[in-house]
Amino acid sequence: MQGGIGKNVQIGEGAVLGTNVVIHDDTVIGKNVRIDDNAVIGKLPMKAARSAVTKDEQLAPTVIGDDCMIGACTVIYRGATIGTKVLIADQASVREHVTIGDETILGRAACVENYCTVGKRCKIQTNAYITAHSTLGDDVFISPGVLTSNDNYMARGKERFKHFKGVTVERGGRIGVGAIILPGKVIGEEAMVAAGSLVTKDVPARTIVLGSPAKVWKEVPAEHFLENQ
Ligand SMILES: CC(C)(COP(=O)(O)OP(=O)(O)OC[C@H]1O[C@@H](n2cnc3c(N)ncnc32)[C@H](O)[C@@H]1OP(=O)(O)O)[C@@H](O)C(=O)NCCC(=O)NCCS
Repeated sequence: MQGGIGKNVQIGEGAVLGTNVVIHDDTVIGKNVRIDDNAVIGKLPMKAARSAVTKDEQLAPTVIGDDCMIGACTVIYRGATIGTKVLIADQASVREHVTIGDETILGRAACVENYCTVGKRCKIQTNAYITAHSTLGDDVFISPGVLTSNDNYMARGKERFKHFKGVTVERGGRIGVGAIILPGKVIGEEAMVAAGSLVTKDVPARTIVLGSPAKVWKEVPAEHFLENQ
């Protein structure tokens, strides 16, 4: 690598790179992309000596779409595909096998783990944690400090691989600040999880759940629905 730019890197017209930006081999950067100081794009995953999850594999090159903004100290792994007009704020982390849809915002230090799909126009706010193997539909809103999980066996026993499951947030689902979502739970379309709730069961579409454990509280008001915005 020379001057922080690897081999076969394509950088579109109008891209602006800050100081110490590192772009690894084969990465494709679209037009008018801004990448701030110390960001790392196309990083290869690190396989821990005893890792049972991270694979030795050939990953597709990282692709950053046109008109994206990538914050300082952000790390985007090889095998991530970022749509157009996406804003990824400072210190965020996007792992391999992740797709992020157009116009989505990933907040400061938010983390999207491997094998996740994030839809278009989502907002994933500061310090949110999206666990591996999760799916977020379009227009999903994840508040600051939301925690999601995928392993009820907490790294013990081979049995866990059969049950390992990320979370699903369907189109327009919203999760309030500091909520915790247990493995495999589905937050239905346009549903809402109140701040600080612990979600132990699937949440029906267009319903607000609240508390620990979260219980159905009431319907989401119609004026909140996406079609009424
Ligand atoms: C769901 C939510 C909107 C409810 O707010 P609200 O309609 O104003 O509710 P109220 O303040 O009128 O409270 C109604 C009752 O529910 C309780 N309550 C409200 N929110 C609660 C919560 N998150 N968890 C547990 N109980 C809650 C209140 O204590 C009150 O109980 P009471 O009737 O016994 O006094 C709010 O809890 C919430 O989650 N807001 C989201 C904040 C957020 O994350 N924003 C995005 C990032 S900035």
